[in-house]
Amino acid sequence: MTYDLTGKTIIVTGANSGIGLSAAIQLARLGANVIMACRSAERGEAALEQARHQSGSSRIELMLVDMASQRSIRQFAAAFLEAHPRLDVLIHNAANFDLSLKTPVLTEDGIETIFATNHVGPFLLTCLLLDRLKASAPARILTVASKGLTAYPFLDIEFDNLNGERKFSPQHAYYHSKLAQIMFNRELARRLEGTGVTVNCVQVGNVAIPDERLGHLPGWMRRLYALKRRMAITPERMAETYVFLAADPAVQSISGACWDENRRQVSPIRSADNQQTWLRLWQVSRQLAGLAEGTEA
Ligand SMILES: NC(=O)c1ccc[n+]([C@@H]2O[C@H](COP(=O)([O-])OP(=O)(O)OC[C@H]3O[C@@H](n4cnc5c(N)ncnc54)[C@H](OP(=O)(O)O)[C@@H]3O)[C@@H](O)[C@H]2O)c1
Repeated sequence: MTYDLTGKTIIVTGANSGIGLSAAIQLARLGANVIMACRSAERGEAALEQARHQSGSSRIELMLVDMASQRSIRQFAAAFLEAHPRLDVLIHNAANFDLSLKTPVLTEDGIETIFATNHVGPFLLTCLLLDRLKASAPARILTVASKGLTAYPFLDIEFDNLNGERKFSPQHAYYHSKLAQIMFNRELARRLEGTGVTVNCVQVGNVAIPDERLGHLPGWMRRLYALKRRMAITPERMAETYVFLAADPAVQSISGACWDENRRQVSPIRSADNQQTWLRLWQVSRQLAGLAEGTEA
């Protein structure tokens, strides 16, 4: 895939490893100014060096953000808006899938950590950067969900269990947050009609995660991941879908769709079609993100 992204500014969250790092490298090779938005200065610096080296580009920078902390997201957005006059693509790649969690852990904002990181954080960051995206139109937003959701065909948004207060498992919280991202994708696309800003969702399939990122998991889970890895595609290959959705002219006017690793449009599970749930989730997300009504999209 060859595109000319010279002059485009692109944020990739969770860009210090896996698909996010691969996407940052591929986008930088195509000439984009890439902001690697990472939570750890140490891991971020190491990844920045790797990304500059592998892309041959110096137009990559590191900015710190913890997507589980609304204070951090607000600081990041303010610093970005101060430093960058345009934003062409916002990629919500970062996610928490800590399968070692046994009980819900609340963030400083009082929200269950997986839901906070994977849904409320991207919702807030999008809203804070939306005016800059609109001013830079045509612009694009990518949300990231999971093909694994197809194993939960009856999952729906549980408004009485957003913090895992009724039942909790990290798998359930993770897929719940990813379903929320698909519905956010749909509702945001509807609200952005006519603005020149589009939003699309990547349904990531089975992508290799290196063993060193799984050190916190019990041995049996690491062995499971090792088995999974045998059938997985590489982060580089998955990142090609990110690049396609960020850059390809054929996608310019498509919004609200989900895409797989082969750059094909795919249908998410049935519950993602319920427009009333999109709207209710939007309102609840706005409240959880501490945004006043009318200040979001
Ligand atoms: N790999 C798969 O098979 C698979 C399947 C379905 C969906 N996905 C999705 O694909 C995306 C990328 O995953 P990956 O496979 O590339 O895994 P990964 O290598 O573990 O990448 C996840 C990234 O998110 C970052 N992150 C986690 N919590 C964060 C926070 N609070 N604030 C900022 N950054 C945070 C991580 O940073 P740290 O280094 O600080 O932890 C890391 O850079 C995720 O959205 C994931 O849900 C992956």
